[in-house]
Amino acid sequence: MSTYEGSFRVWRGDTGGGELTDFTVAVNDGEVVLDVIHRLQATQAPDLAVRWNCKAGKCGSCSAEINGRPRLLCMTRMSVFDPAEVITVTPLRAFPVVRDLVTDVSFNYTKAREVPAFVPPKGVAPGEYRMAQIDVERSQEFRKCIECFLCQDTCHVVRDHEENKAAFAGPRFLMRVAELDMHPLDAAGDEGLDRKRTAQDEHGLGYCNITKCCTEVCPEHIKITDNALIPLKERAVDRKYDPLVWLGSRIRRR
Ligand code: SF4
Ligand code: F3S
Ligand code: FES
Repeated sequence: MSTYEGSFRVWRGDTGGGELTDFTVAVNDGEVVLDVIHRLQATQAPDLAVRWNCKAGKCGSCSAEINGRPRLLCMTRMSVFDPAEVITVTPLRAFPVVRDLVTDVSFNYTKAREVPAFVPPKGVAPGEYRMAQIDVERSQEFRKCIECFLCQDTCHVVRDHEENKAAFAGPRFLMRVAELDMHPLDAAGDEGLDRKRTAQDEHGLGYCNITKCCTEVCPEHIKITDNALIPLKERAVDRKYDPLVWLGSRIRRR
């Protein structure tokens, strides 16, 4: 096994402020960044705060920024970096710091609660639901989400714009609205809930200008923009903005 001494800059601090601190830590073959952070805790910084759980890319806990890019610490292999490179590890920028690499992601839980749940169809018992396979597959893609919130962290609408947070649910939860709106059994419409309208009016769909940064960082490779946000935008466009409808009305006026 080969080992080298890697150079790291890790953000240390709390709600009152902080700074990048330099460390030299041993790196072994086959390790991920989280292994190095754990070695740093074990050998030099026992009070370093970092959130993690599964170390398998499935719990979504270890989200942070590595060289400024939102990533899972447990799924970022050290082998992707040059051994001579200084690797900077910082907390998610879009959320308030609790301590060191741990941020307060409660913004996301607030946004989750704002999306009304699936409304079961009347007269059909659970177990009797029937859906076309294509609809099942569409939902399954979105259901791979591990709620790491890397997409929420990277989206420019809120990344440096705290003022937009109240009006914008972010890609993860707009994807949830899209999933429910495309669900063939969701009966929200029967109860007067128009998910397309609320996507625009309450969850800030219009703020998204399809930069696709969310899709680029998703560790589950969910095509958030192409398969959820763009289709939701298309579905939400009011008929009065449809150029064919507009042309038709002009012709009829003559
Ligand atoms: Fe993470 Fe992808 Fe889910 Fe966003 S959609 S929270 S990036 S898994
Ligand atoms: Fe943001 Fe993704 Fe739209 S990064 S702007 S939600 S495409
Ligand atoms: Fe669970 Fe990284 S520790 S995703």
